[in-house]
Amino acid sequence: MLPSLLLPLLLLTPASSATSLFVASYAGTVTSLSLTENNGNYSLDQTFVSNDCAPNPSWLTLDANRGFLFCLNEGLETVNGSLSSFKVNNDGSLVHVQNTTTISGPVSGVIYGAPAGGRAIALAHYTGSAVSSWHLNGGGNFSFNQNIPFTLDQPGPAAERQEAPHEHEAIVDPTGRYILVPDLGADLVRVFSYDHTLKLQELDPLRVEAGDGPRHAAFYNPYGVACEGCTTFMYVTNELASTVKGYAVTYEANGGGLSFEEIYKSSTYGYLSTPKGNAPSEIHVSPDNRFLIIGNRNDSSITVPNLDPANSTQIQSDTISTFALNEDGTLKFVQLAPAYGSFPRHFSTNAIGNLVAVGLQESSEVVILSRDITTGLIGEPVASIGIEGQITCVLFNEEHALGSLGV
Ligand SMILES: *[C@@H]1O[C@H](CO)[C@@H](O)[C@H](O)[C@H]1NC(C)=O
Ligand SMILES: *[C@@H]1O[C@H](CO)[C@@H](O)[C@H](O)[C@H]1NC(C)=O
Ligand SMILES: *[C@@H]1O[C@H](CO)[C@@H](O)[C@H](O)[C@H]1NC(C)=O
Ligand SMILES: *[C@@H]1O[C@H](CO)[C@@H](O)[C@H](O)[C@H]1NC(C)=O
Ligand SMILES: *[C@@H]1O[C@H](CO)[C@@H](O)[C@H](O)[C@H]1NC(C)=O
Ligand SMILES: *[C@@H]1O[C@H](CO)[C@@H](O)[C@H](O)[C@H]1NC(C)=O
Repeated sequence: MLPSLLLPLLLLTPASSATSLFVASYAGTVTSLSLTENNGNYSLDQTFVSNDCAPNPSWLTLDANRGFLFCLNEGLETVNGSLSSFKVNNDGSLVHVQNTTTISGPVSGVIYGAPAGGRAIALAHYTGSAVSSWHLNGGGNFSFNQNIPFTLDQPGPAAERQEAPHEHEAIVDPTGRYILVPDLGADLVRVFSYDHTLKLQELDPLRVEAGDGPRHAAFYNPYGVACEGCTTFMYVTNELASTVKGYAVTYEANGGGLSFEEIYKSSTYGYLSTPKGNAPSEIHVSPDNRFLIIGNRNDSSITVPNLDPANSTQIQSDTISTFALNEDGTLKFVQLAPAYGSFPRHFSTNAIGNLVAVGLQESSEVVILSRDITTGLIGEPVASIGIEGQITCVLFNEEHALGSLGV
């Protein structure tokens, strides 16, 4: 046993901690990174690269509890996309398990089903105008469940982007009973339930305003409890209209679906004026359930120092918006923070919420930004690393209290 006098000293001893991250790039790679912290100094290093999700990885879904990673290849120049699975080793390296061809253009996936029973992964196909589902068979193995194709009778107002349905994300609601899929082309948020075979069945969708172009969505339970009778809100980032909208969600009896009432709408810039060309991307509720964080692409609205300290040229950066979540589902604009580069297509927080990893698509860079958990304010970069190609997704290899099923 240690003499008790030594204990306070041990607690004060500088602690070094390491966590891993996964990054997808359209250049064909899934890269594992190691983020090490030493007395407030961070270093970010590449530890492993896989080409098994080639040629165009667009999305990663982490099954953190079981230690598996699913990767979608969008197949930008091929007829079909693909789904790949990996076993995650303790050091963050990946072992490829399986690969299969899918309908074209998968861009997002979410795991659904019984946490301890049968589960499946639902994929949103942007170019393929479809949702597909794959049974998860354990060990990272999967098998075909279902393809659900969609058609559009009439193109939407943004003709070049709304000529067909474009499924852009798949998420589960907080109860785990429904799958929701924003459709950028059809101006819908599609709603699905599922039965014991995990077959998806489409229910009445949320019809958003024509030309909104819904891309991604996130749920919020203000009292931290998820149930069909619990107060529930959903927020949608509209890529084409450059807005965020909030909806009060009501559960119909007997699994009959969801109904939505719009209760909030603003630019993703809050009360600031929105730059022309801004295209909102990812949306997440912070791990402490108090803030809503949104990526803004193509706005170039803040001038910041170069991430390369040897380069004195300043850069025009895209941004990340933070809103405080009110109990009644309305939002209060808190901050427009620089993303330190171009096209923050995707970002994620660590489980504590004091770091935000940003995937900068056009800058070919992953940047780790500090974040104040109390105020929600995003701060300076603590580390960054260049990765070849356009970055599409970045995840911390951590279990999130609210995020294990992608909620
Ligand atoms: C952290 O980095 C700074 C600047 O590089 C250095 O001066 C300091 O000694 C470092 N601290 C530790 C604990 O490594
Ligand atoms: C997985 O499938 C895609 C598309 O068919 C292919 O490009 C890729 O090389 C495959 N990967 C492996 C490891 O088989
Ligand atoms: C390949 O993609 C086409 C177009 O999306 C689709 O019709 C076909 O079913 C796909 N093949 C497979 C095996 O998913
Ligand atoms: C996964 O499938 C492979 C063959 O495709 C098989 O060898 C392996 O045992 C399976 N793993 C599990 C855990 O079922
Ligand atoms: C970026 O914004 C400009 C207008 O400022 C627009 O012309 C351009 O098409 C936008 N680019 C993308 C990729 O959205
Ligand atoms: C410095 O940064 C600017 C802006 O990102 C870039 O265009 C330029 O190539 C960089 N110069 C060097 C020497 O890396």
